[in-house]
Amino acid sequence: MYRTHTCGELRIADVQKEVTLAGWVQRTRKMGGMTFVDIRDRYGITQLVFNNEVNEELCEKANKLGREFVIQVVGTVMERSSKNKNIPTGEVEIIVKDLVVLNASETPPFTIEDETDGGDELRMQYRYLDLRRTPVRANLELRHKLSFETRRFLDDQRFLEVETPVLIKSTPEGARDFVVPSRMNPGEFYALPQSPQVFKQLLMVSGFDRYFQIVKCFRDEDLRADRQPEFTQIDCEMCFVNQEDVLNTFEGLTKHLFKHLKNIDLTEDFIRMPYSDAMKFYGSDKPDIRFGMKFVELKDLTTDRNFVVFDSVEYVGGICAEGCATYTRKQIDALTDFVKRPQVGAKGLVWVKCEADGTLKSSVDKFYSQEDLKAWAERFGAKPGDLMLILAGEEKKTQKALCELRLEMGSQLGLRDKNVFAPLWVVDFPLLEWDEDAKRFFAMHHPFTAPKPEDIALLDTDPGKIRANAYDLVINGVELGGGSIRIHDSKLQHKMFEILGFTPEQAEAQFGFLMNAFKFGAPPHGGIAFGLDRFVSILAGLDSIRDCIAFPKNNSGRDVMIDAPSSIDNAQLDELCLSINPIQK
Ligand code: AMO
Repeated sequence: MYRTHTCGELRIADVQKEVTLAGWVQRTRKMGGMTFVDIRDRYGITQLVFNNEVNEELCEKANKLGREFVIQVVGTVMERSSKNKNIPTGEVEIIVKDLVVLNASETPPFTIEDETDGGDELRMQYRYLDLRRTPVRANLELRHKLSFETRRFLDDQRFLEVETPVLIKSTPEGARDFVVPSRMNPGEFYALPQSPQVFKQLLMVSGFDRYFQIVKCFRDEDLRADRQPEFTQIDCEMCFVNQEDVLNTFEGLTKHLFKHLKNIDLTEDFIRMPYSDAMKFYGSDKPDIRFGMKFVELKDLTTDRNFVVFDSVEYVGGICAEGCATYTRKQIDALTDFVKRPQVGAKGLVWVKCEADGTLKSSVDKFYSQEDLKAWAERFGAKPGDLMLILAGEEKKTQKALCELRLEMGSQLGLRDKNVFAPLWVVDFPLLEWDEDAKRFFAMHHPFTAPKPEDIALLDTDPGKIRANAYDLVINGVELGGGSIRIHDSKLQHKMFEILGFTPEQAEAQFGFLMNAFKFGAPPHGGIAFGLDRFVSILAGLDSIRDCIAFPKNNSGRDVMIDAPSSIDNAQLDELCLSINPIQK
């Protein structure tokens, strides 16, 4: 037996027991004639004691141990004289009588402790060492629990987990596909699934009734903190349901996960906010509603006062930051610089301070009287001490900039507490989105999303106005999941492809199998997919989903540990009938 106990297990009740432990050397400390070694495994850390006066040879051996050596010790559990309240084993130590070095270790490239000196790149290169660190491992433990509890909940609700293929067909919609050349079919390619969307719909045609899968998805898109090229979805689909049924089921899953993973009771029903309200009041389809500061529109109150900036624009709107009238010139200048950043995109910032005595002071005093400003303040609901921040410009762009400003103010005012969770459903998304460059409509969710029945008449007259039976689950400004009720009628699906600019031949070539399936009794169905990595990150309060993925890619899509992607040799290329264009390379 390599060990009788783990390194996180021993307590005061175990005193006098003879035990065998195995693990890694976290650190050694020599104090007079005593040597202390912390031994670590996945479960915790235990202090080992070697006494020079009792066994000189053994103590010498302990003094030679380096960080990360793998050792096995036999010894007796004793009560510690100076207890460490910070760790569960902190009341005891092991008086060692035997030590075996199971494996030596080179000095690790960074210290393997909760706080490490290793930079991002180095930690990723030696990710297997980074994973020995408790906070990183804790994220993966939470991830395991999330998958486990998801399976438990969905199994209870009669969902069946079904695997779908990973080598599939490339489709033109959505993000860019990762493709895989086929040796047996020279010149032809598989695509890796961006999601199992069509397969789960086919499983509904097969009568599976309730499907789920915890599944890897692949998207070749620009990476961000919440985006990886390969990520995991909790992918679900249900038959004979309407939107309410789907929302209620997955609100149930969300509440179950919060309860079992964080012991948080989300007792309230999740707010359902139409997409149009999300844009109007928060400038985003994933509003962070942990705090207020909703947008207030001012265009009608600001025109015809000879202020050209406001007169000439489509939209004037702002937010009211409570208690911020004390902001200094310097702080306001910094906010102005913030909104003028290219990523935010505003041209300038107008401010109005509501002073303690109720007088209003603004950066546009030249154009607006106290009466004018009072009308603005009333609309904002501003109180003495508040600061109103106003942007103007083209409606969509300005709302987007105001969204960034609102989030920035939320952060500055400490209103975005990671331990507060504010879930909501964003519903009634537009079905289609007009792309000015391509001069065509794109599906806002995907081409299989059903329009709201009452909007179907607009398909021929004003497709841009159609609302979809589509929904997103948003928590703290993060889109955790999205789904829709699907089209199950092949005629309507054909019509949808036509609006999206597919010729009947293209639609047939790309999605013929689905259209055919719909001819054989497709039931009404709908579903959703959660981003599992994002869910874990929200629960763990992480800034990037990378921190809950065992072996993530960096921002250039590289795995720096295994050095992928990498070239393949000419023989492999020949076998696949491929050649690399040297200029492109
Ligand atoms: P959607 O494209 O909205 O829907 O994806 C569902 C959820 O997956 C997560 N997600 C990602 N997570 C990490 N990295 C990425 N690159 C990434 N892309 C998406 C998000 C998102 O909400 N088939 C549909 C679902 C359906 O209609 O049922 C789909 O994939 O959390």
